Order: sequence, then C-alpha cells, then structure tokens
Amino acid sequence: MMKTLQDRVIAVTGGAGGIARGIAEAILEAGGKVGLLDLPGTKLTEAAAALDPGGDKVVAIPADVTDPASLDLAFTQLADKFGRFDGLVNNAGVVRLGPAEGATPTNLDLEFAVNVKGVMLASQAAARQFGDKGGTIVNIASNAGKVGYRNMAGYNASKAAVINLTRSLSLEWADKKINVNAVCPGGVATDMLKTVADFITGGDAVESEKMMKNMVPHQLGRHILPIEVGRVIVFLLSDAAQIIRGQSISVDGGDTPF
Ligand SMILES: NC(=O)c1ccc[n+]([C@@H]2O[C@H](COP(=O)([O-])OP(=O)(O)OC[C@H]3O[C@@H](n4cnc5c(N)ncnc54)[C@H](O)[C@@H]3O)[C@@H](O)[C@H]2O)c1
Repeated sequence: MMKTLQDRVIAVTGGAGGIARGIAEAILEAGGKVGLLDLPGTKLTEAAAALDPGGDKVVAIPADVTDPASLDLAFTQLADKFGRFDGLVNNAGVVRLGPAEGATPTNLDLEFAVNVKGVMLASQAAARQFGDKGGTIVNIASNAGKVGYRNMAGYNASKAAVINLTRSLSLEWADKKINVNAVCPGGVATDMLKTVADFITGGDAVESEKMMKNMVPHQLGRHILPIEVGRVIVFLLSDAAQIIRGQSISVDGGDTPF
C-alpha cells in the first residue's frame, strides 16, 4: 500500500462509529495518524485502543460537532499531540426513521444539527487550525442524498445538503488552500445500517440480518466494508486528488452510478 498520507494528521468525527473504524484503518495503512472525535460517553477510547494499542498513532478526543468550542479545543489538542494537523473527515451522522408525515421537529432538528451544521462547524474549526498552509476535508454524505429512500426524508435532505455544502466550501475555500470533497456510501454494515434494517423488519433478528445483506449492492452479492469507504477517503485526502474538487463520489457498488 502506498504511503500517500505519510505522517499526516487527520481528524475523524463520529470516531466511535462503524465507518470511522474503516476510515482510521485506511489512514494508518497510508502512513497517517488519526484523531478520533466523538461524543463523551461513547466507546471512543476503546475504538482508539483497538486501532493502536500503543497510542502512538491514534488519539481519542471527546468532542461534539454541534459545539464550536469543543471542536477548536479538540483540533488544538490533536495538533499538540502529533505536531501538525492536515485533514478532517466529517463522518459524524445520525438518522431518525419513520414516515415523512410523522417526522418530528425534534428529530429533524437533530439530523440537521449533526449532519449539516456539524459538518459546517467542524470544517470552520479545521480551517482555523489549518492556518495558512491549508488542508483537506472529506465529508461523508450518502447515496441517500442523491436519491430519496423511504422513511428517512429528513436524513435524505440533510445528506443532499452535505453534497451542496461540499461544493460551496470547495469553491469558497480554494484560496485558503483547502480542498473539499465528499463520499456517498451505500449500505455499509454498521450499527446505523442495523437500525435501518431493524426498523424495516419490525425488529425480527433473522429478517433484519437478511435485510442488511439485501441493502448492499446486489450485483456484488456482499457487504460494503468500512475500509473500502476509508480507502476512497484516503485518496481524496492525498495530494493525488488535488485536482478533484467539490465532488461527491458514490462508494456504493454502483447502486447510484452518478
Ligand atoms: N452505514 C451506512 O450504511 C451509511 C451509508 C451512507 C452514509 N453513512 C454515513 O456515514 C457516517 C458514519 O455512519 P456509521 O454507519 O458509521 O454510523 P454509526 O452510528 O456507527 O456512527 C456515527 C457516529 O457519530 C457519532 N455522533 C453522533 N452525533 C455526534 C455529535 N454531535 N458529535 C460527534 N459525534 C457524533 C455517534 O456517536 C457515532 O459514534 C454517517 O455520517 C452516516 O450518515 C452511513
């Protein structure tokens, strides 16, 4: 594997989650170092220890993407720990399921606060920390932001917003030497996908498991692995992707080939 991120320091929000693990593994594989950020009370420390028992390459830092002060503090701690700060992966996300007519203001506020405002606030805080040298940002949108899926209208809309925010930041921050792109995963086997499968199957464990398998690209007949998403993100974080800007690349086995 080419060391395209040798010694670079990358923050990953939602760091205790399923896709974050694959992102972190791919960054380590490419020679980089990782700051995992997630809410206090999550299994963040365990996630960091599982990736890097020695603690030389991965650090766990509690932070809430809806709170700018906690983000500034986290990025400063990360830069202090490893001596530099090069990139941000906006991975934190939430989904609230149910028919569109019943979507509550509380759930819509949460989805937009974490999935959209959180991406904006973390990107602003990263830009402050990058300083004059610039950096790279990769947002995790979703193929749900390109097509609508049932029972997640608020989530679909929030991910469509991430796709457009990616374009806006890419354009506006080019002169700050910040490159901004996004990936749009399909069904990746994580707790979030299990929540969706449980909802659709009414909580039947066997049917839910079947559903998870069916929600992944049928033409491949297998799950999307978190590290497969992570390796595309590593490419977008690397110098090789400098000419790719404001894009939202589907990482979904061809389910949404656009
Ligand atoms: N799993 C999939 O099939 C899939 C598909 C497309 C896109 N995505 C997106 O990928 C990203 C990661 O999803 P995942 O499947 O790993 O989900 P996950 O639920 O396993 O992880 C999400 C993480 O985000 C964290 N988080 C929530 N609110 C936060 C906040 N305010 N501040 C900091 N962290 C917060 C959670 O604590 C959790 O650890 C999300 O943005 C999700 O929308 C997932």
